[in-house]
Amino acid sequence: MSPLAVHVTGARPNFPKAAPVIDAVARHDVAVRQRLVHTGQHYDERLSDVFFRQLGLPEPDVNLGVGSGTHAEQTAAVMVGLERLFLDERPDVVVVYGDVNSTVAAALVAAKLQIPLAHVEAGLRSFDPSMPEEVNRIVTDRLADLLFATSADAVAHLGNEGVPAERIHLVGNPMIDTLLAHLGAFDVAAARSRHDLSGQYAVATLHRPANVDDAADAEALVKTLHAVADQLTLVLPLHPRGRAGLEAAGLSEHPGIRVLEPLGYVEFLGLVRGSAVVVTDSGGVQEETTVLGVPCLTVRPNTERPVTITHGTNRLVTREDVPWQVEQVLAAGTTAHRVPPLWDGHAGERIAEVLVEAIA
Ligand code: UD1
Ligand code: UDP
Repeated sequence: MSPLAVHVTGARPNFPKAAPVIDAVARHDVAVRQRLVHTGQHYDERLSDVFFRQLGLPEPDVNLGVGSGTHAEQTAAVMVGLERLFLDERPDVVVVYGDVNSTVAAALVAAKLQIPLAHVEAGLRSFDPSMPEEVNRIVTDRLADLLFATSADAVAHLGNEGVPAERIHLVGNPMIDTLLAHLGAFDVAAARSRHDLSGQYAVATLHRPANVDDAADAEALVKTLHAVADQLTLVLPLHPRGRAGLEAAGLSEHPGIRVLEPLGYVEFLGLVRGSAVVVTDSGGVQEETTVLGVPCLTVRPNTERPVTITHGTNRLVTREDVPWQVEQVLAAGTTAHRVPPLWDGHAGERIAEVLVEAIA
């Protein structure tokens, strides 16, 4: 029987990373069986199903249905479900994506069952231990046998941490494969008409615990977003995390602010593509704006994606500085940018090449 690769996904940012890898493995000359697991970490249609439809991902073979919970509850539930599954199916490799709780849970289970583990998007470091994702990245990379890096800085971090060079593969960015594959569908005119937008507009996505969990932080953030909306219409497709807090702090009270449910991938990037500036704390959005050439202001003290600053359009800003930074971006007009090396739409194929060779 041909070897079995099990892909574990669970949360919104996993899906655009997994799609090109699964597709490239399916197209490879060497036959590999693939199973796609959805842990159920994200379950809302708008955070999950819409990505399967739009990105041509196969239906998950298994949905563990773990849902929300504390970090320990969620991670443990994924581990229990995956341990049963891996014992039943005995995969030849487990492939995990990014830095969410489902990622680290799958890594722990695979490592203890001595199943080879591949980590897509290895080596990113914010060096900020207060971010749950940083803990997830460090643990996953420590356990992985194949580490697929999106950028040279990630390769360097892994080297500094003692990961043997032969395990590390600089392959580019599969999330950008997905972006480039769907570029033609990112329809700015449709986004303008759908959201009744004329003239310049900004887009914001904010969901990091450090920005939205605490009531005082949410209030300060709302003040800043209102000051942005004094300058141009601000469209906010809001992740459920923190939505209640931001609304309680009066977010929707400004006439220039449009609060939306999370958007589908194609609709979201259509909106971003036509925007004058993006304000975000998302990891993926920093990368996507880099390639689209849309100025990006990241409301965080650090980023694990420094190429989005050195090459791309990204700038780290404090919450309080956002309004005048927006003013500067609007005054400057265009933003010079370069696409980082290997963010060329072929990362999935490079990953498939290494994966297939490792298990065939
Ligand atoms: C998770 C990831 C984060 C990623 C984000 C992407 C971890 C530790 N964090 O954060 O890295 O940037 O996903 O979107 O894995 N909720 C819903 N519907 C859903 C899912 C969640 O309403 O389908 C609400 C629940 O109230 C839940 C909260 O959002 O408690 C947080 O969900 P969770 O998956 O724990 O973390 P995210 O904040 O989504
Ligand atoms: N995204 C989307 N709709 C939205 C907001 C984001 O499709 O309303 C996409 C975005 O284009 C990117 C991914 O979701 O592909 C990023 O996920 P998120 O910001 O939730 O997670 P992070 O990247 O911060 O881990």
